[in-house]
Amino acid sequence: MKTRITFAALALAAAMPLLVSGVFAADGAAPAKVPSGPHPITQEIPADPMAKEITDDHKRARNYADQPPLIPHAIRDYQIDLNINKCMTCHDRKNTEGSQAPMISVTHFQDRDGQTLGAVSPRRYFCTQCHVPQTDAQPITGNRFRDIDSILAGGKAGGKEGAK
Ligand code: HEC
Ligand code: HEC
Repeated sequence: MKTRITFAALALAAAMPLLVSGVFAADGAAPAKVPSGPHPITQEIPADPMAKEITDDHKRARNYADQPPLIPHAIRDYQIDLNINKCMTCHDRKNTEGSQAPMISVTHFQDRDGQTLGAVSPRRYFCTQCHVPQTDAQPITGNRFRDIDSILAGGKAGGKEGAK
C-alpha cells in the first residue's frame, strides 16, 4: 500500500511540468507579462525590482466616506502581535501629543455592539487588516471606479476616475 502511494506521488511529480506547460499551450496567444509569470516552473526568472514605497507623509483623499485612510508613512518591520502594537505607540489616545499622529477614531474603541471601550477594540487591533501603505507600482488591471461626486455630477468626468 505504502509503496503504491509513493509511486503515485512520484508519477504525479514527474507529470507536473507537462501538465503546467499543457495549460499554457492551450491558452493560445502569450498573455501579457505580469511580474510573477507565467513561465515554465522549471525556468528561473529574475525578480522584478521592488516598487518604491510612498512615504511622503501626505494625506490621500478617501474614495468614499468610510474608507480606511491610506498610510502615508513607512511601516516596514512595525510589529503588531500579542506583545506589542507599534502603531499604537504613536496613534493611541495618550501618545498622540508626543507623536503628533492623528488619534485612532472613536470607532476603533467600539465593540460590535457599539459600546465604547477604554482601549482599542480587539476587532480593530490588527491595523494593517484595513490600513495599507502605497507604492509607486503600476496597477496590473484597469479600474473604472468613480467617486460619488462624479456620479452626482451626472456621470461626466471630473471626479476621481481610475482612482487607485
Ligand atoms: C512613529 C510614529 C508612528 C507610528 C509608529 C505609526 N504612525 Fe501612522 N502616522 C503618524 C503620523 C505623524 C501621521 C500623520 C502623517 C504623517 O506625518 O505621516 C500618521 C498617519 C497615519 C495615517 C493617515 C491618517 C489620515 O487621516 O490620513 C494612517 C492610516 C496611519 N498613520 C496608520 C498607521 C498604522 C497602521 C501604523 C502601524 C502599522 C502606524 N500608522 C504607525 C505616526 C506614526
Ligand atoms: C476593521 C478595519 C480597521 C482596523 C482593523 C483599523 N482601522 Fe483605522 N480606520 C478604519 C476606518 C474605516 C477609518 C475611517 C472611519 C473611521 O474613523 O472609522 C479609520 C480611521 C483611522 C484613522 C484616522 C482617524 C481620524 O480621525 O482621521 C487612523 C489614524 C487610524 N484609523 C489608525 C488605525 C490604527 C493605528 C489601527 C490599529 C490599532 C487601526 N486604525 C485599525 C478601519 C480600521
